[in-house]
Amino acid sequence: MEQLLQQIELYKQEIAAAEATNADMVEAFRIKYLGTKGLVKSVMGEMKNVPNDQKKAFGQILNDFKLFAENKFEILKQSIDDSQQSTANSIDLSLPGSPVSVGTRHPLSIVRNQIVSIFKRLGFAVSEGPEIEDDWHNFGAMNLPEDHPARDMQDTFYISQNPAWLLRTHTSSVQARVMEHQKPPIRVICPGRVYRNETISARAHCFFHQVEGLYIDENVSFADLKQTLYFFVQEMFGKEVKVRFRPSYFPFTEPSAEMDISCLICDSKGCNVCKHTGWVEILGSGMVHPKVLENFGIDSNKYTGFAFGMGVERICQLKYQVNDLRLYSQNDVRFLKQFTGAI
Ligand code: PHE
Repeated sequence: MEQLLQQIELYKQEIAAAEATNADMVEAFRIKYLGTKGLVKSVMGEMKNVPNDQKKAFGQILNDFKLFAENKFEILKQSIDDSQQSTANSIDLSLPGSPVSVGTRHPLSIVRNQIVSIFKRLGFAVSEGPEIEDDWHNFGAMNLPEDHPARDMQDTFYISQNPAWLLRTHTSSVQARVMEHQKPPIRVICPGRVYRNETISARAHCFFHQVEGLYIDENVSFADLKQTLYFFVQEMFGKEVKVRFRPSYFPFTEPSAEMDISCLICDSKGCNVCKHTGWVEILGSGMVHPKVLENFGIDSNKYTGFAFGMGVERICQLKYQVNDLRLYSQNDVRFLKQFTGAI
C-alpha cells in the first residue's frame, strides 16, 4: 500500500515536469499515462489489492491522480495549438513585403544642386547667410541708400524699423557678408531663399530661391562674365541653347545686363512662357559697382569683379516645364512624385 502511494507520488512529479514542444511529444505523453496500457490504467488495476476498508480513500487518491494526468495532457495540447497558431499569424514567408515608398528631392533642390555643381567646377565656393537681414547687408552695402528709388524694385517685408530688420530680398546680402570677411580673389556663389512682398499668382510668389555669384580679382572683365554665364547655360541646358545680353540697371553693378536664353519650351517659336518673343530672361548681372567694393575696403583701382543673380524657380520651369510657381510650395505629392527619377 505504502509503496503504491509512493509510486503515485513519483509519477505525479514526473507528470508535473513533463514538457512538449511538438504534437508527437503530446501524443507520447498521452500513450504513456492515459493510453489503454498507460500508467493511470495500471495504477487503477491495483485497486483490487486494496483492503476493503481503505478502498474509498484510495479510490479518491487514484481519481485525483487520473485527473492530474488528464489536466496536464490538456495543458500540453493547448500550448502546442497556441504556438502553432501564433506562428501562423505572425510569419507568412510567402507574403510579399510591404512596399516602402521612395522619397524624392524637391525639384528646386535638384536644380539648385545642379547649378551649384556647375559653378563648383569653375572654382566657385558656396556661401550661405541669414534669411533675416539688417538694412545694411541687404541694401546699404549694395549701393542702395535709404530713399533710393531702386528699393521699390524689391518690395520688402520689414520685421522692424529703426533699426530695420527685414527678410532678405536677394542673396546679394550674402555676397556682402563674404566681402566683409574675405579679401580678393573672391569666387563665390550664394544659394538661398529670398522674400518679396508680391501677390501670389502663377508667376509671382512672396518667396523664391536664388543663386547669386560674385567674382572679384585683378583684371576681371565683362568678357569673363559673359563666358562664365555662357558656360553655365550650356552645361545646364545643352549646347544648342543661345544667349543674349540686354543692357539693364542694378544699383550694385555698372554696367549691368540681363541675360536671356532661347526659349526651350517652344524652341523659340513663340509661346506663353517667352511671351512670343522666343527669348526668356534668366538672370541679372554686371560688373560690381566700385562703390560696393569700396564699402568693404576693396581697392577698386586694383580689383574688378562681376556679379550675377538667377531665380532657381525660373531655371526649374525651363528644365521641367513647371508653369505655375505655386506648385513648388503646395506639397502636392502628385507633383513631387514626378521627380523621383531625377537626382
Ligand atoms: N540681386 C539682384 C536681384 O535680386 C540680381 C543681381 C545680382 C543682378 C547680381 C546683378 C548682379 O534681382
